[in-house]
Amino acid sequence: MDTTIPNDLEAFWMPFSPNRAFKADPRMVVKGEGVHYWTADGRQILDGISGLWCVNAGHGRPEIAEAISAQALELDYAPSYQVAHPKAFELANRVSAMMPDGLDHVFFTNSGSETVDTALKIALAYHKANGQASRTKLIGRSRGFHGSGFGGVSVGGMQANRKDYGNLLSDIDHLPHTHSLEHNAFSRGQPEWGAHLADALEDLVYLHGAETIAAVIVEPMAGSTGVLVPPVGYLERLREICTRHGILLILDEVITAFGRLGAGSAAERFGVTPDLMCIAKGLTNAAFPMGAAIAHDDVHAVFMDAPDGATELYHGYTYSGHPVASAAGLAVLDIYEREGLFQRARDLAPHFEDAVHGLRGCPHVIDIRNIGLAAGIELEPRAGAPSKRAHDVFVEAFESGALIRYTGDILALSPPLIAGKDHIDQLAAILKSALETAD
Ligand SMILES: Cc1ncc(COP(=O)(O)O)c(C=O)c1O
Repeated sequence: MDTTIPNDLEAFWMPFSPNRAFKADPRMVVKGEGVHYWTADGRQILDGISGLWCVNAGHGRPEIAEAISAQALELDYAPSYQVAHPKAFELANRVSAMMPDGLDHVFFTNSGSETVDTALKIALAYHKANGQASRTKLIGRSRGFHGSGFGGVSVGGMQANRKDYGNLLSDIDHLPHTHSLEHNAFSRGQPEWGAHLADALEDLVYLHGAETIAAVIVEPMAGSTGVLVPPVGYLERLREICTRHGILLILDEVITAFGRLGAGSAAERFGVTPDLMCIAKGLTNAAFPMGAAIAHDDVHAVFMDAPDGATELYHGYTYSGHPVASAAGLAVLDIYEREGLFQRARDLAPHFEDAVHGLRGCPHVIDIRNIGLAAGIELEPRAGAPSKRAHDVFVEAFESGALIRYTGDILALSPPLIAGKDHIDQLAAILKSALETAD
């Protein structure tokens, strides 16, 4: 095990992190295997968040490492502009085969953020190609997270991520979020209350006119703002309203695809097929960066009416369909299939649900919510110090051997799909004692 600790932490400007606080008291991990990380001083840390919602098949999988290594030796890079290599096509076919019917056209990117921007651009270009160029408005949702690109931040609904960046994209509006402590606290699975919140889209149609709206983008389950589970019937209603008004529905499944909810996608789990889907993270188990926007046949077909020989979409990235990422993705999909990991997640979900709801009654806990292998535990904020209490619980849990995540005063859990019941129990026990320790 390489236990080297860099002796100067200054040069790396860390993303979404309080850099000075981290560098004064760093938490460094140097090895990952199965459901664990190891720190530089040899402590084992239970990974309660699958890295960053992405290492669904667990760390250090030799099959993935071998596929990456073999591909890098055989063909390290090939462009996907007018030349290509077979594995990108193979992966696109495999991905489309595991998604709901009609989601058959895979546009590769390198991250969730690029994927979201890709999907938004496809939506705009689709309407233009379809003779409805007035449809330029993009609708996101409050408390949505769609990555860090200008498009994703614009449709995103997190104030901290937006407030320093000027006007962002124009022609944006937002739906209300679905979180309600009053109506839904301590729901197990999908809350009963809240489907009617989808009707806010009708209000936006009334306000702006359907002929100005290109697309609505939502996370089926909002992950980064604290595991907001869609109310029963909400996504179905959103789908119905979009269809009725000719608005494209984009599901951002960067977190929810590849087993997190016990199915290949949230679209499959909830029976709601979007016009465009965003994936990343679990696509390669995070062993190599890759994302993809998946277009429905009906969306894709409009582009294929372009004159013969024309480029149908002026969009792409140097690394779209990167050979090494493609090889990693194929190895990962093999693991998911061979080990039945989506079913495994579905089978483990009731145990996970009981374990997290067992934290009800711990100090400061005002809500617990869950679906599949994801849970949010909301804490009463400390007076005058928002998010400090959750930060303290996060640090205490790490010191006690578990990595969790927090946003504001909400703790999030999303263990790898290979976790056992014993790991879930251990995670809950560590969290319980961290909650009892924090003031
Ligand atoms: C729903 C969603 N969309 C987009 C992103 C952005 O992905 P990336 O960090 O790979 O750009 C994330 C990241 O967590 C996400 O949760």
